[in-house]
Amino acid sequence: MIFYFSGTGNSQWVAGQIASLIGDETRDVTKISTPPDVTGEKQVGFVFPIYAWGVPEPMMNFVKTLKQTDAFSFAVCTCGEEAGLAMKKLGKCYPLRSCYSLVMPNNYVIGSDVDDLAAASQKIKKAKQALVTMARQIRERQPVYEVTEGSLPGLKSGVVNYGFNRFARRTDSFFVTDDCISCGLCEQNCPAHTITLQSGRPVWGKACYQCTRCINACPQKAIQYGEKTRHRGRYTFREWEKKEMNG
Ligand SMILES: Cc1cc2nc3c(=O)[nH]c(=O)nc-3n(C[C@H](O)[C@H](O)[C@H](O)COP(=O)(O)O)c2cc1C
Ligand code: SF4
Ligand code: SF4
Repeated sequence: MIFYFSGTGNSQWVAGQIASLIGDETRDVTKISTPPDVTGEKQVGFVFPIYAWGVPEPMMNFVKTLKQTDAFSFAVCTCGEEAGLAMKKLGKCYPLRSCYSLVMPNNYVIGSDVDDLAAASQKIKKAKQALVTMARQIRERQPVYEVTEGSLPGLKSGVVNYGFNRFARRTDSFFVTDDCISCGLCEQNCPAHTITLQSGRPVWGKACYQCTRCINACPQKAIQYGEKTRHRGRYTFREWEKKEMNG
């Protein structure tokens, strides 16, 4: 069984690719309410994006509830560049036999602009190739640690990640422009269930993973986080796929 968390679809796609290459199934951790029984599973995998050189809260919380078995365990994080010590921190909660980081398009529109189509396509093409090797190594039960930790990983996964979780995941900077068509997609799709439509417009509660799904997936680009996101692009794996298919 391969468990995943994904804000904008990269990690969901990666989990699906590995599952089809090794003949397994995927499950979204945000849709699991009671810890699943993994007894009898041949392998247990975790796939998720890197948030501020760390593991996103929903994945970390899920992993902590999961019973440890003798199954081959592996984790794959998708990231724009580097993962810090995220995998080592995850490994302290659930023993991991194999760890990988995989560069995928950057979705952190709050911090900087997203990748353009050409850059995103280049990254996904490389990731596709890397996944074939990864799946073979998983099938062969090879213990691998192929993680780009980057510079100063202790500092970034320590104090910077703490600061992100403690102070940066605020919702008061969200606002919606008049381009909103009240379609309700943001409310339906928020994995933290923090958005409600009030008089046809999204209103944010306090909880937020900062997964950027609401901002990146709004069909009208109506959701902003401070002024900077007005002038930035948007990225979801699904939109990239559509553009790629349309040439
Ligand atoms: C809140 C947040 C923080 C991020 N921090 C990092 C980071 O520390 N290092 C990095 O390489 N990418 C970082 N990224 C980029 C994502 O990890 C990357 O785009 C990932 O593939 C998104 O996966 P998803 O589509 O499954 O959500 C961050 C993205 C978000 C939304
Ligand atoms: S997804 Fe965008 S257009 Fe749809 S309700 Fe939310 S803000 Fe409005
Ligand atoms: S409010 Fe937006 S960024 Fe925060 S968890 Fe929900 S979809 Fe993700």
